[in-house]
Amino acid sequence: MPMTVGPPLAATILVADDMEENREMLAAMLRNEGYRVVLAADGGEALELLATGPIDLALLDIQMPRRTGISVCREIKSKGDTRLLPVVLITGSTGPDDRMRGIECGADDFLNKPVKKEELIARVKSLLRIKQYTDELENAETVLFTLALSIEAKDPYTEGHCDRLSKLSVALGRRIGLPNDQLVALRRAGMVHDLGKTSISESILLKPGPLSDAEWVLMRKHPEVGERICQPLRSFGMVLPIIRHHHEKLDGSGYPDGLHSPAIPLTARILTTVDIYDALTTDRPYRKALSLERAFEIMRGEVKRGWWDGDLVTELEAQLRDIPVPGAPIEGAPGHLIISGEAASSWQEAHGLHI
Ligand SMILES: [Fe+2]
Repeated sequence: MPMTVGPPLAATILVADDMEENREMLAAMLRNEGYRVVLAADGGEALELLATGPIDLALLDIQMPRRTGISVCREIKSKGDTRLLPVVLITGSTGPDDRMRGIECGADDFLNKPVKKEELIARVKSLLRIKQYTDELENAETVLFTLALSIEAKDPYTEGHCDRLSKLSVALGRRIGLPNDQLVALRRAGMVHDLGKTSISESILLKPGPLSDAEWVLMRKHPEVGERICQPLRSFGMVLPIIRHHHEKLDGSGYPDGLHSPAIPLTARILTTVDIYDALTTDRPYRKALSLERAFEIMRGEVKRGWWDGDLVTELEAQLRDIPVPGAPIEGAPGHLIISGEAASSWQEAHGLHI
């Protein structure tokens, strides 16, 4: 059974080493500093403990039975819920091989045996400080995502929209070869792009009929308001232009800035393309979801009008035909177009139901 010692509110540190003497020595050093310590006798037990309770930092001996420290570290860094957990590998060798393998598996730091107390405590403190920042960052992101979902929940016709937008935008970005930081920005933007709608009353957001001019003025402010809400988060730097420009059109007739292509950021154009597609292929009070075929027919027509990025529309269609998105309508699926004239504009639909 693992042994737990230390004040309940202190950070919890996992110490995994098959040599009891080493484990106890490390545990004693950490307990003296007030940390809570959880002990594992091998790599397998370390993973079991990680799955059962919150751990703030892992100290892993590289050479252990069942699973080595390298193997445990690789697993920690590959899982979404533990990838930000700091890992320190403890090595008995002074050669470069262990360090190279440790770096490759994503370890945050190394300690050489015999471990010196001052060195151990300095690294633990430093990594726990970084962990605290990332936890706070994650909390802020979670708050924004929750707020965005609460807006989505007000309208039964947009259920799941943010999640689909997030996933499909990332898939399209990946397809055209965007770097990872832009994919992360797209994932976040998919969730929070309409956060600015918190400033708009439900009577406008859920209005079944056309909006008045005054109501449109308010509606058109939501990209700027959303940008302002997310601005304090430094990690959202690449997300802000996507939020601000997700209602721009290539011919300059969009808002809030009336940008012309190519001034509209590529990531914003990706989100817009997916947003329009999702609006067309989900149920509305006045019609069923359109088929993929019909949705792209409308979008291609609007590409000709100078609204959307034709290359992205083509890539999105190819993406969806290659890998169908779960829940998305497919060609030939039920869904009949009962809108007409100007109401058939995907642009109006992407604003909600205000046609
Ligand atoms: Fe929007």
